[in-house]
Amino acid sequence: MSSNENGAPRFPIPRQCPFHLPREYDEMRGTPQAGDVTMWNGQNVKVFTRYEDVKNVLADNRFSGNPAVHGFPSLSPARDAVLQAEPAFIRMDPPEHGRQRRMLTREFMIKRIAALRPHIEKTFVGLLEGLKARGNTAELNEDLFLPFTSTVIADLLDVPHEDHAFFQEKSHDRVLLDVDPSIPKAASAAILGYLEKLVEARMDNADGRDDIISHLIVDQVREGHLTQRELVVMADLLLMAGHETTANQMALGLHSLLTHPDQLEMMRNDPELIKSAIEEMLRFHTIVHYNAFRTAVEDIEYNGELIPKGQGVIALIAAANHDPNVFECPEKFDITRKADHHVAFSYGIHQCLGQPLARAELLTVFSTIFDHLPNLRLAIPAQEIQTKGDHFVLGLQKLPVVWDNE
Ligand code: HEM
Repeated sequence: MSSNENGAPRFPIPRQCPFHLPREYDEMRGTPQAGDVTMWNGQNVKVFTRYEDVKNVLADNRFSGNPAVHGFPSLSPARDAVLQAEPAFIRMDPPEHGRQRRMLTREFMIKRIAALRPHIEKTFVGLLEGLKARGNTAELNEDLFLPFTSTVIADLLDVPHEDHAFFQEKSHDRVLLDVDPSIPKAASAAILGYLEKLVEARMDNADGRDDIISHLIVDQVREGHLTQRELVVMADLLLMAGHETTANQMALGLHSLLTHPDQLEMMRNDPELIKSAIEEMLRFHTIVHYNAFRTAVEDIEYNGELIPKGQGVIALIAAANHDPNVFECPEKFDITRKADHHVAFSYGIHQCLGQPLARAELLTVFSTIFDHLPNLRLAIPAQEIQTKGDHFVLGLQKLPVVWDNE
């Protein structure tokens, strides 16, 4: 691990084991003050690792989530290139954040997502049947999970299916951390350009259509509450946020079950456990592991420490979800634990808007896949499975599996 002359480790701190958080998070959690880390550009940033502190910071609007505020932590030049693009509401502070987020609340309400369940299940089973028809092996990221999540979100926005490959490629380019900034920048520009044309074409025929873009055109753009460009940026956020994240969680969750056969058997014998297994996956992996970056917009006294205006901070939700004072033996993957108070979807005003959809998709996968693909197992030794280390969102490089076709 590299550190600066003050001994503060360089962030991101590498994982010693790919499926476990860096040990340094535990050390930081052991002291009452926030930890110190150094970013690639030499910037000092305060890191919160305790569950209560992470929640307190995320609930405190004196910490801004706007990357344009001076002092905002820089994760890498490639990540900066993404953040410097036009901000969607995920990067805004109140009141504008709430104004735009509220335009979408009803689209992701639990009741509305529950009504979509049959469509979501049909989509997934259709993809599973397609896999079986092609043989008894697959790489589940590319062959199943990404097509599934991208089809669902594209259907909600009514974005043509034939363009999925384009979105998958560009959204992948956008989460890379250690590449030339021109790569994520070009990917952002390509997606925004695509969506701009799509929104323009839909402006005149949105009436009577049942998709999120059309609802926003009729209720918000035509009423003067949202500009056409703001709608483009919002649609981009939904496409990106709702796609690679959930697919990565599926792959990691399935991997955990396949490498913990006792847990899988328990879940298969008692389907009531599927929901708690999903909460445990969300907690255990906390895939948005470099969330949430903030800047103090005024001097803040916290835990007897002064956090000066302009200080960059990181509220590490992954570390919070592994706080032993809140989750006993946090390094144990245990589907019977009650984990639903985890903060894998963040906390406070930016808490994930799409969580009912993510949960519905995860429930569909884990209540269906083992029946359709009997004796599902890894196709390569478990130690050869690699995580996506250089991505903003944690996932698996590949998940090759095999099953028995009847
Ligand atoms: C397992 C899957 C998912 C995980 C773990 C996840 C996690 C998160 C996290 C940690 C945040 C906070 C980000 C921040 O503060 O910077 C967030 C925000 C958000 N997520 Fe998700 N997400 C998932 C799936 C989805 C899906 C399916 C959608 C649907 C479109 C979605 C839409 C959003 C949106 C719109 C925000 C911004 C909320 C705001 O700023 O008010 N997410 N998500």
